[in-house]
Amino acid sequence: MSDLKHEIERRRTFAIISHPDAGKTTLTEKFLLYGGAIALAGSVKGKKTAKHAVSDWMEIEKQRGISVTSSVMQFNYEGFCINILDTPGHQDFSEDTYRTLMAADSAVMVIDASKGVENQTRKLFKVCLLRDIPIFTFINKMDREARDPFELMEEIENELGIQTYPVNWPIGCGREFKGVYDRNKKEIISFTANGGQREVEKVELNINDDRLEQLIGKDKRQILVDDIELLDGASYDFDMDAVRHGKLSPVFFGSALTNFGVEPFLEDFLKMTTSPLPRHSDQGEIDPFDPAFSAFVFKIQANMNKAHRDRIAFMRICSGKFEKGMEVTHIQGGGKKIKLSQPQQLMAQDREIIDQAYAGDIIGVFDPGIFSIGDTLCAPGKKFQFEGIPTFAPEHFARVSQKDTLKRKQFVKGTTQIAQEGAIQMFQEPNKGMEEVIVGVVGALQFDVLEYRLNNEYNVEIRMESLPFQYIRWIENKEIDLKSLNLSSDTKIVQDFKGNYLLLFTDIWNIKWAVERNPDLVLSEFGRE
Ligand code: G4P
Repeated sequence: MSDLKHEIERRRTFAIISHPDAGKTTLTEKFLLYGGAIALAGSVKGKKTAKHAVSDWMEIEKQRGISVTSSVMQFNYEGFCINILDTPGHQDFSEDTYRTLMAADSAVMVIDASKGVENQTRKLFKVCLLRDIPIFTFINKMDREARDPFELMEEIENELGIQTYPVNWPIGCGREFKGVYDRNKKEIISFTANGGQREVEKVELNINDDRLEQLIGKDKRQILVDDIELLDGASYDFDMDAVRHGKLSPVFFGSALTNFGVEPFLEDFLKMTTSPLPRHSDQGEIDPFDPAFSAFVFKIQANMNKAHRDRIAFMRICSGKFEKGMEVTHIQGGGKKIKLSQPQQLMAQDREIIDQAYAGDIIGVFDPGIFSIGDTLCAPGKKFQFEGIPTFAPEHFARVSQKDTLKRKQFVKGTTQIAQEGAIQMFQEPNKGMEEVIVGVVGALQFDVLEYRLNNEYNVEIRMESLPFQYIRWIENKEIDLKSLNLSSDTKIVQDFKGNYLLLFTDIWNIKWAVERNPDLVLSEFGRE
């Protein structure tokens, strides 16, 4: 097998999604421990940093020049080369969190067993659905009191609209957690909590083994036998094709903190996922094994350090091989040839300059201000464009204006630039000038970033008035007469800078109102590029 084929085939690129505190960092850490990428639990820094106050966060950004919370981590495990894409979830939840999912080939959804499906998981899940990528569920914290597993399955199916296939099944929970039954191997992996230490003892036993009763007790054994019978009869069959298309989610129960069920999960997950798949472009599918390099930019990280206004553009390699210093064509840059300098990759918590990378990998390159989100880069001679990245609905809105009207030029330049980088979205009320804009953001921290950057980079002080809107919808049918729309009094019509019309709503009921009273109105939750 050629080197290129071998390297691409062993790649697995996935994102981990969850609601804060479900255990994403803990699970990631355990993966890295298995891969030998870190030596000690507690060394993944993202989470602790994200919990800092805003001012501290700015300081950290300034010192490092790059967000420490938005890392891509690469490690090797049993011959696989794994890229984990972190989806920042605390205060730093932003549009970038969604965009990161565009670069992944599959997703691992971590759910807290006592809480079930939570808000942020729901939002991130919707974006995974857009792309039909496989979704694997890890139900975490079984060593604590948990909800009934059948109820959890039902909630995932009803709330997220995906079928589930439990690969293993829990035996009790909390203090009474005895382990899991592996439905494929038909054996028990026993959990023995040992004084809070982070290691567990494993006993592998067949469900019919007489010793099982000693291990988990008579009652638990009966419950397990009944549960499995019910599952075998009533749950969906395992169908790999449905998994690959994001229709059926394999579900695993475990406890990341105590390291229980993590390695079996990783092993099964790696078997069920695929190496990088072809990506859509305006010239059809691009085969990852095509030796000609291609990639798209999914995220741009501005440097918070005023002395270095450079930015890092993160790109997902979609085909071929990348080599340091190689010349590529920047399609959206008018087909200009550019050299990708200072290619970087994030290995656990450290950044490293790399010499080569393959389809499936993520690299960050120095960006002198030429890239935009969604841009395609190809090997010279190729001229195709990857499908764009949608615009995701902001959830916080504010009216922003400059304090000093003489600074109008800087204000317009600054806000436009920051919006182009994809950090904020800007809207205008029809027939209003640029002295005042409505800014929408996915995560409220972006407002602080906007204020900080306008002040520091453009020397503009701003006034920000928070607006009560929470939802936005793009009006899909452009021919509709806006004046004739029947809307609730607190719904606002705005326009983005590409000329699209949108509606801002204060609550979900007003969206219903708009849809019910305007049968011709077509609304969308995602904006087209
Ligand atoms: P996140 O990245 O999804 O936000 O979650 P994170 O891993 O930081 O976990 C959130 C909290 O839940 C942490 O506790 C962590 O130790 C705990 N946790 C994670 N997995 C498990 C598990 O399987 N069982 C139990 N019992 N707890 C788990 P913390 O007190 O907030 O932080 P720390 O001081 O322990 O780091």
